[in-house]
Amino acid sequence: MISRLLELTQIGPIRAGIINIPEKHWPQPGQYLPCQRSSDKPDILVTNLFPVLGDDGVLTLTPIPGDWYPGDRIQYLPPQGRGFELPSTVRRIGLLPFGVSPLRLLTVVNDTLTQNASLTLFLDSEQRDAYLDFIPSWVEIVPQSALEENFDWLDFLAVDIEREALDELFERIGQPGLAFEGQVLIRSGMPCRGLGTCGVCGVKTTKGWRLVCKDGPEFDLAEVLNVA
Ligand code: FES
Repeated sequence: MISRLLELTQIGPIRAGIINIPEKHWPQPGQYLPCQRSSDKPDILVTNLFPVLGDDGVLTLTPIPGDWYPGDRIQYLPPQGRGFELPSTVRRIGLLPFGVSPLRLLTVVNDTLTQNASLTLFLDSEQRDAYLDFIPSWVEIVPQSALEENFDWLDFLAVDIEREALDELFERIGQPGLAFEGQVLIRSGMPCRGLGTCGVCGVKTTKGWRLVCKDGPEFDLAEVLNVA
């Protein structure tokens, strides 16, 4: 399928773009679109783009490569992978972008509104400085250092993290008896974008090795907690 890059925008340090893809092909929060610029050679690896919070009625994706410009024709495949699925009963949701931008996690804002839930975003000071202008004013921002103090309040935690940082995350939230559910969006290189042939994106879970590109990139927190 072919589309066009309409507009570029800078969200903090991240290059984002609006691509005019029909709404029926828009990825859900946490899913990704394998894309390639039509003018690139076929042997160039695909770029996996994720939806981020943007203007209503348009699809804003990141990270847009530095040499893509408005007007470029973009080839894309249908949305891939498993995205976030918030249980309908949760009312107190925490978002934890662990060493990464909060933009992918903020796509759950619409779901949160739909189910009248409150949303708390745990940010460190560097993330706050970079992204404050792009965070909806009704989202409560709490320092990431206060995460543990909020465990009793939360009933759901959504995490976005690089695969290599999982151990560090588990040191903070891996204690037994946590009362909340959670899902984690795991970032990994995905060179074969869901074909499941290269094994580069393997992650250890309670069900054995799984692939971020195919079985994720979103996993239940309990599936990956303390097994990395
Ligand atoms: S990207 Fe190749 S197996 Fe996942």
